[in-house]
Amino acid sequence: MRFVSPVLLAGLVVVACSASAASDDDLVEYREDAMHVLGGHMGSIGAIVKGKVPFTDDLATHARGLAAQSKLVKGAFKDKAMNGDSEAKSDIWENWDDFAAKADDLESAAAEFADAAGSGDMSAIRAKVGAVGKACKGCHDDYKED
Ligand code: HEC
Repeated sequence: MRFVSPVLLAGLVVVACSASAASDDDLVEYREDAMHVLGGHMGSIGAIVKGKVPFTDDLATHARGLAAQSKLVKGAFKDKAMNGDSEAKSDIWENWDDFAAKADDLESAAAEFADAAGSGDMSAIRAKVGAVGKACKGCHDDYKED
């Protein structure tokens, strides 16, 4: 605290308070970044499971990352926000309970996959990663523009 000036501290408080009024552009970018993290883990997991790359020991870490990230999906979409870049359909906020249930499906599929990845049982891993892929697709089919 010794090095933090009162002026800087006051500035941080202002930044923290203004965070409640996020713009649509910022909200869209935030949730697209959140989706890219999911996409990055899934891409790496696919390459490992298909044997394209030799990073088998990293599979469980990707699975845990995916499971953690999947918990952020509902919150990232909670506030309605759209812009020209967004591929989100406005149905999300008209059918919020269904959208939220699809986010929950991903959370549980990702948690089960993380358990399987920790076990090292490749046939269980393949089955559970398939279920994760279905959970992604299940939501995109209804709520994401092609
Ligand atoms: C509950 C719904 C839901 C689930 C589950 C879901 N997504 Fe998405 N995803 C969306 C929506 C809606 C968009 C469009 C967001 C936007 O453009 O504003 C999106 C966009 C994306 C994008 C494109 C981001 C961009 O910048 O255009 C990627 C990549 C993606 N999702 C990957 C995944 C992966 C991988 C999974 C599963 C591990 C997944 N998503 C699960 C709803 C979901």
